Amino acid sequence: MSMISIILLHLLCVSLCLQQGVSGHQCLENPPTLISTFGAGSVTEIGGLKAYVTGPSHSERALLLVSDIFGFEAPNLRKIADKVARAAGFHVVVPDFFCGDPYNPNNTKRPLEVWLQAHGTDKGFEDAKHVIAALRNKGASRIGAAGFCWGGKVVVELSKTDCIKAAVLLHPYNVTVDDIKEVKDPIAILSAEFDEALPPELLKQFEDILSTNHVSGYVKIFPGVSHGWTVRYQDDNVTAVKSANEAHQDMLDWFTRYVQ
Ligand SMILES: *[C@@H]1O[C@H](CO)[C@@H](O)[C@H](O)[C@H]1NC(C)=O
Ligand SMILES: *[C@@H]1O[C@H](CO)[C@@H](O)[C@H](O)[C@H]1NC(C)=O
Ligand SMILES: *[C@@H]1O[C@H](CO)[C@@H](O)[C@H](O)[C@H]1NC(C)=O
Repeated sequence: MSMISIILLHLLCVSLCLQQGVSGHQCLENPPTLISTFGAGSVTEIGGLKAYVTGPSHSERALLLVSDIFGFEAPNLRKIADKVARAAGFHVVVPDFFCGDPYNPNNTKRPLEVWLQAHGTDKGFEDAKHVIAALRNKGASRIGAAGFCWGGKVVVELSKTDCIKAAVLLHPYNVTVDDIKEVKDPIAILSAEFDEALPPELLKQFEDILSTNHVSGYVKIFPGVSHGWTVRYQDDNVTAVKSANEAHQDMLDWFTRYVQ
């Protein structure tokens, strides 16, 4: 790489950080140890992507879970999928949006900004639509979608369409006022007290826009936790687990209410 492109890349990173709080280190905190065989479900292929699937496969109600940058092999994410499937009988699908190439924090040659160039949320949105179409073909007539961090941006895009019945964003990344203005589906936004990219003032704006547009919206700020807390918590931290569980329950309640 030439010096010029290194400098340009650096400037791009800096400007992204400033604009979006995107490469904020908070997205990188507590990376999971990936386990490809983890969970009560199985890995199959759906809509052109590999996916972890769990819960009754012929249910008319399905949920799409869109991961953070660490991808679909994160044990806590699969635990959430199993939990939701068990509690409400949804067929839950967690696709591998990164085609075997999740963000690897150990690869210092490929910082987040560079990885994101190969794995933009725009592509994630296109892929998600294929997965939803495949779910419909299999008989799922009511579908909800939840997105964590990176996945939050994918799911806000889905919530502007007729593809899904309801959306849940958990500590979403790069979701803007303009995004929220276009949301059509009932949407819950679960956010941490400490999230550099999603301050309370911005959440208040989101709430006002949803209300003005008569979209069913629910915005909740979880006290004492940081960005990423719903999925990248430490298993042995009772407070963290409790708060994550509360968020999972809120997500489940939203889907039981709107994905009937
Ligand atoms: C990164 O390195 C740590 C420490 O060696 C290791 O535990 C972890 O599994 C590695 N993560 C990945 C994604 O390779
Ligand atoms: C953030 O989202 C906007 C569209 O809302 C997109 O143009 C931009 O590329 C995204 N930025 C990053 C860093 O993902
Ligand atoms: C446990 O989690 C809480 C909430 O995320 C955090 O404030 C606290 O520092 C954590 N405790 C330890 C010992 O890591």
